[in-house]
Amino acid sequence: MSKRFYITTAIDYVNGQPHLGHAYEKVVADVIARAHRSLEQETFFLTGLDEHGQKVQQAAVAQGKSPQAYCDELAAVWQAFAAKLELTNDDFVRTTEARHKQVVQAILSKLHAEGHFYKEVYRGFYSAREETFLTHKDRRPDGTFDPAYGEVVELDEENYYFRLKDHQQWLIDYIEQNPTFVAPAYRRNEVLGFLKNNVLEDLCISRPAARLNWGIPLPFAPDFVTYVWFDALSNYITIPAAQGDPGVPSSLRPEASAAGSLLPLWPADIHLVGKDILKFHAVYWPIMLKAMGAPLPKQVLVHGWWQKDGQRMSKSTGNVVDPVAIINEWGVDAFRFYVVRELDIGPDGNWTEAGFKARYSAELANGLGNLVNRSLSMLKRYRNGVVPKASSELAPEAEKVIAETRALLEQNQLQGALQSIWSLVTRANQYVDHTAPFKLAKDPAKAERLDEVLYNLAEVCRILAVLLWPFLPGTASKINAQLGLPGSPDKLSGARWGRLVAGQTIGDPAPLFPRKES
Ligand code: ME8
Ligand code: MG
Repeated sequence: MSKRFYITTAIDYVNGQPHLGHAYEKVVADVIARAHRSLEQETFFLTGLDEHGQKVQQAAVAQGKSPQAYCDELAAVWQAFAAKLELTNDDFVRTTEARHKQVVQAILSKLHAEGHFYKEVYRGFYSAREETFLTHKDRRPDGTFDPAYGEVVELDEENYYFRLKDHQQWLIDYIEQNPTFVAPAYRRNEVLGFLKNNVLEDLCISRPAARLNWGIPLPFAPDFVTYVWFDALSNYITIPAAQGDPGVPSSLRPEASAAGSLLPLWPADIHLVGKDILKFHAVYWPIMLKAMGAPLPKQVLVHGWWQKDGQRMSKSTGNVVDPVAIINEWGVDAFRFYVVRELDIGPDGNWTEAGFKARYSAELANGLGNLVNRSLSMLKRYRNGVVPKASSELAPEAEKVIAETRALLEQNQLQGALQSIWSLVTRANQYVDHTAPFKLAKDPAKAERLDEVLYNLAEVCRILAVLLWPFLPGTASKINAQLGLPGSPDKLSGARWGRLVAGQTIGDPAPLFPRKES
């Protein structure tokens, strides 16, 4: 392997509390990161916070706080949230950190020296809510802007611009020649449609510090700060650069950074982002990288948006799902399972309480939980918890699911992998019903058959723990412990039939997903 697998998430605006959409994206990234580790690939998972810009400055002012104090308080909340989701991020970037700012300034200096920027008067519109520039073309037929932009103000001020027009044709060619650069395919088509039907406007990359000072000063014009999206997108490479990553062009690496002996990170393998920020990631970011002389990421993977009860989630109407409340009531694995099982990476999803409870009850409590609990309880009751001699009755079906799950995980098809895994859960529950070990146990002549059945069930449970580890790490570890096995089931290579050894004693069975009255 010539580089580490490197996955990033969008860095969230620190102007409020985390919600379902943030949680979803981070969980999906975590499952992909864990899956690649389980596949024994060296992996680096980066997430973090977007702390500069007008939106954050306004929120801080509204609370009578300095922007830095405001960000520090909220950063603690967001970091606790990442822990609550059991994310295995290897680093957590905050764009107000010196290590990030230093590299952003190196990028700006380099692009400026190489003639990518020019200064001009900007006339146009700005949405602070979306931190985005708008033009007349973005107006609706009645002249207004989409309410999603919030308040839109007209601007007339001198700024620095990044020449994007020169880059339009190679980007079209690049996306056409690299069919998986933007996924799913319908998002790729959307980007190509945009690039082919519009002339790219040059990108305004500064704000006058006299009006907005909560940003990174332009190194060549300190009376301006960097446009927050230029600052934010750079995080994906500033953190590798700050670590001395040999994949980052040396001109962008701080001299003090220690290269170490680790495999390169850059280019990123996956930038996981929501559909609303596609243009920033599939148009501006590749152009920025090309101008810096850095290779492009392998993929921008675009997920859809959650609604609640068929409506846009919105704090002002109270139509929100609080992931922390769900996790406190149902457990983090139930939350992780639901969001990944319910919504494939791409389309929009809809959270309903009834849908959540239905999956909890059918798939977790009565499906997986029941299988593991009755399998291990019977082994305990009928064989004193001692694993009987190996048998391979369910081996062909288990091996088929293992191969299918592996292939799906290699392609980051998480929903498909869960479907495949659950086909084994269902099959094993049917096996219990068909073989009826509770009847076999009553007939001493059937002792050998009972041994076979108990072995097959215990071995399926062990394999399920391995397959489930990226998705439900806590549950997978509990299954492993209930089987009396040491360590975590965190290597997919452990999912091979027959690894469970006869004669070993299992631990104590306990329900994984308590049934709840509703
Ligand atoms: O856009 N469903 O930050 P952000 C699913 N700071 N995903 C959702 C969602 C929903 N209802 N609402 C938001 C920003 N998201 C920038 C990113 S990256 C260099 C800078 C997703 O806090 C959204 O699509 O507004 C995005 O990927 C992420 O949450 C952060 O959104
Ligand atoms: Mg947003």
